[in-house]
Amino acid sequence: LKTDLLAAIDAASGVDALEAVRVHALGKQGAVTGLLKTLGGMSPEERQETGPRIHGLREAVTEAIAARKAALEGAALEAKLASETLDMTLPVDGVPAGTVHPISQVMDELAEIFADMGFAVATGPEIEDDWHNFTALNIPETHPARAMHDTFYLAGEHDRPMVLRTHTSPVQIRTMTSTPPPIRIIAPGRVYRSDSDATHTPMFHQIEGLVIDKGITLGHLKWTLETFLKAYFERDDIVLRLRPSYFPFTEPSAEVDVGFTWKNGKREIGGSGDAENGGWMEVLGSGMVHRRVIEACGLDPDEWQGFAFGTGVDRLAMLKYGMDDLRAFFDGDLRWLKHYGFSA
Ligand code: PHE
Repeated sequence: LKTDLLAAIDAASGVDALEAVRVHALGKQGAVTGLLKTLGGMSPEERQETGPRIHGLREAVTEAIAARKAALEGAALEAKLASETLDMTLPVDGVPAGTVHPISQVMDELAEIFADMGFAVATGPEIEDDWHNFTALNIPETHPARAMHDTFYLAGEHDRPMVLRTHTSPVQIRTMTSTPPPIRIIAPGRVYRSDSDATHTPMFHQIEGLVIDKGITLGHLKWTLETFLKAYFERDDIVLRLRPSYFPFTEPSAEVDVGFTWKNGKREIGGSGDAENGGWMEVLGSGMVHRRVIEACGLDPDEWQGFAFGTGVDRLAMLKYGMDDLRAFFDGDLRWLKHYGFSA
């Protein structure tokens, strides 16, 4: 029986065939199992003599099955590996490459333009405290910018309410309180307001500019903005109009408009803004840094003066590349990115 079983095990050509042999030998009705059952009816002497031989048989068969099983599985794996080899030297085609998002691209462009004028890039946290976002910027408790409908509030530590910064202006404060003047920085980054429609998204991008030095005037502000806008829109016929306005942290404050010209029913930046061929478009908020802001940062406003400006990066991108829906920036739609040449 042993010889027969071992031969059958050896002959099993696959895992299934081997399993059939196992059941035939060791299963409930199996040959070896049958022999084991006869032990019960034997006399003690007989059992002493026959028992070890039957147990030995069972062990030998069990081992042979295990060994054969390992061999069959090994062979199956080898065959699988052999059939699945990859030719790593074959060329690949059509792997889509990522590209820089238009907003990131415009922020890089802006940083480069201002770097040429001697401005460094400063950053601040997007989760900001009330003091940096409002108080130090001379925005009193009663200012509408603090109202819940504009500002996202967060539960703060130590009873200090935190906000998602509503503008990049807190970076003015962070810079003035950490860096001795003279200061020339821009601060691009994300800002948040609880607002959403075709021209507003709850998260958008601003860029802030700040200059603090001695004897700084509105003339410096105008020259800086004009030089920047000419470089950004890549044309010399940029005409600025400074319109008196109000920001709590600048005095005087000015909204900056650029002249546009109608071209094929579309506004194109450039030109004098005369009503017949075009008009004015608001592009920036700006002003001379309020002395209370300079004071709040621990500087003497009689010694140090400066100007600040802020604007929406998304808006600047839309104006330059002729896009008309702000929300598309944040949809990640490859067709849209491709249309404006921003995707491979
Ligand atoms: N922080 C202002 C805003 O978000 C913009 C601004 C910045 C105005 C700096 C003046 C000076 O609208």
